[in-house]
Amino acid sequence: MAEARREHFGGRLAIIMAMAGSAIGLGNIWRFPYLAGEHGGAAFIFVYIIASIFLSMPIFLAEAIIGRRSHANTYGAMEKLAPGTKWKWLSILTILAPLIIVSYYSVVGGWSIEYLVKSLAFSFNSTPKEEITSMFAGFISQPWMPIVCHTAFLGTCAVILTAGVKSGIEKFSNWSVPILFVLILIILVYSLTLPGAMEGVEYMIKPDFSKIDSEVILAAMGQSFYSLSLGVGTILVYSSYVSKNENLLVSGFGTAIFDLMFALMAGFAVMTAVFSAGVKPGAGPGLIFESLPFVFATMAESAPVVSGVISILFFVTILVSALTSGVSLMEVGVAYLVEEKKMRRGVATFTVFAGTWTLGCLCSLSFGPMNGFRIFGNSLFEFCDWISSNFLMAIGAMLFSLFVGWKMKKSDVYDEFTNGGTLRFNVRCFKAVYFLVRYIAPLVIGIIFLSGLLL
Ligand code: PFF
Repeated sequence: MAEARREHFGGRLAIIMAMAGSAIGLGNIWRFPYLAGEHGGAAFIFVYIIASIFLSMPIFLAEAIIGRRSHANTYGAMEKLAPGTKWKWLSILTILAPLIIVSYYSVVGGWSIEYLVKSLAFSFNSTPKEEITSMFAGFISQPWMPIVCHTAFLGTCAVILTAGVKSGIEKFSNWSVPILFVLILIILVYSLTLPGAMEGVEYMIKPDFSKIDSEVILAAMGQSFYSLSLGVGTILVYSSYVSKNENLLVSGFGTAIFDLMFALMAGFAVMTAVFSAGVKPGAGPGLIFESLPFVFATMAESAPVVSGVISILFFVTILVSALTSGVSLMEVGVAYLVEEKKMRRGVATFTVFAGTWTLGCLCSLSFGPMNGFRIFGNSLFEFCDWISSNFLMAIGAMLFSLFVGWKMKKSDVYDEFTNGGTLRFNVRCFKAVYFLVRYIAPLVIGIIFLSGLLL
């Protein structure tokens, strides 16, 4: 009965767009290119692809199987598929994790709003280059403006979510994901024409297989994981809006391919620009908010208008890609409140907004007035990032793969993965997928998890 009221995505492309919208985000732009460059270029990308196929894809499928089988939120899914057990309590972790992530992710999203406004005002053309780095440090340490931007970012996600699954999430990702690709293509083509651009291309793909060691393998696995938004229930919840006749394997591959394509395009675009301006690449917010503006200021010396336009396109891309990810992170909590606490969607969205807004404000203040407040030596922002990407995501992914591999009936998993035995290709690879979900994924996640704790 409840299922009749649940919304569904409109079709295969809509599903892939929504999932790709979640996957494509800040991680593709500031993490992937740097990691690739640091860890052996094409060799890293090769390991990344292998990790995506053998680790991330099975976890993706485990989440998707739970979501579509139950047509419920993470908590409700566990209760439906393993009634009366403790699994549903464990699933609370996977509701908290995305809320913690979106709290600090939206602070960075907010910074991109400020930088979009700056680029619309052609600020990078008029600021002396030496002041660009201090401009960023000065901005994030202010108490008010970053909070205003964080509020605008989170508020936009909330407005999209209030509109619902079809009219909100689906509509937004249906137009924004293709636009993201067009924008990044324009930026890429331009960046490749810059003098010295090839150095950036080389940095990212020059194969150096001697660099592959355990650290590189862990970095590639962790990145593939983060990039595909695994372990925090977003894929589970989005899959719960997928109808029974869709092919989960196709959704998974479609998402992973879009995500990889975007990471490569963004990587080349960012790194060619960075190298052509003679800047040393780094990872993290510094790459986007310090190095790129410096690049734009350098470009502006010879071509001010083009530099201004490209900077606007860049920050629109960063902002929109962060929004589609933010929406997916908040949806996990919204779905829980609507289905388990019987809240109206608008009220549920506001509740999630209020909670994540508050934590996000504290994260934002941790760059300024609250910088002295430390948890194990980290600021609140760093702590939220650390605990979610090293700890909660891994636990969530472990939970989902153990649930599908050990708790669900094998025949149910088969039924869901092969659509009742009707998908021939899925029938043929079921054994391998089941083996990966049951044994390999939990084992490897355990290793990633321990290394995250120890490193
Ligand atoms: N995949 C996003 C990125 O690469 O930026 C980050 C993310 C979004 C992680 C949604 C987890 C998630 F549930």
